[in-house]
Amino acid sequence: MSPPELCFSLHTATPRDMLRIQMISASRYVAEDEEAQPPLLFPPYRSTVLRAPKRPPVRIPQTLTEITGPASAWESLGGPACSDLTKQHAGAPLGQRIVMAGRVLDEAGRPVPRTLIEVWQANAAGRYAHAKDQWDAPLDPNFTGAGRLVTDDEGRYRLTTIRPGAYPWGNHDNAWRPAHIHLSLFGAAFASRLVTQCYFEGDPLIALDPIAASVPEGARERLIARFDLGLTEPSFALGYVFDIVLRGPASTPTEDPA
Ligand SMILES: [Fe+2]
Repeated sequence: MSPPELCFSLHTATPRDMLRIQMISASRYVAEDEEAQPPLLFPPYRSTVLRAPKRPPVRIPQTLTEITGPASAWESLGGPACSDLTKQHAGAPLGQRIVMAGRVLDEAGRPVPRTLIEVWQANAAGRYAHAKDQWDAPLDPNFTGAGRLVTDDEGRYRLTTIRPGAYPWGNHDNAWRPAHIHLSLFGAAFASRLVTQCYFEGDPLIALDPIAASVPEGARERLIARFDLGLTEPSFALGYVFDIVLRGPASTPTEDPA
């Protein structure tokens, strides 16, 4: 599913903004733990059969292009963060209000500050505010389901939203996606780009989902947000913790590299 229109775009940056991008140098990145990543071809996830490359991938050498990226520039490029998806319209959206928070870490377990995190998700009924989503579930006029955040100096982020609903997706008979939030992260370098999705602890649909199953079992747990009473706000929202690791042996798996 493509994301709905996000509330910022690099295309909105002016030439002056682009000149303000600070390119930082980073050390070279260790190789991915391929055992923790979903395969390019996973037949139970049907669309991988069509789009998985037929030839072995070519590994790109880590040159300056791969180990650098924009830093400290996301706000100037994209404007204010949109970290509360429940306050983007006149009224409150329907559904279970949640807070999801955590840290973004690098391959050595160090916090990654000023990481851009973009999120998109379905509403509480399981429907995206997107023209291509036409299944018979109601749209919510008070919920768009897209936002962007930038991690603080300790690599922390905090998102307020509503818990997304499950939705059917036609991959197989009676196929339903577990509740999930899509995330796109852009760390300190282009090599630390990550697109993934997180699930919610205790959802019985996770075990039935071919996309989640495409992630090797030992790494699948890294995609599950955990309920946290300490993060839960009294009379306001349930709290979930979801930490994200960019690259390295403990990296958060991608959703589908094909
Ligand atoms: Fe989705």
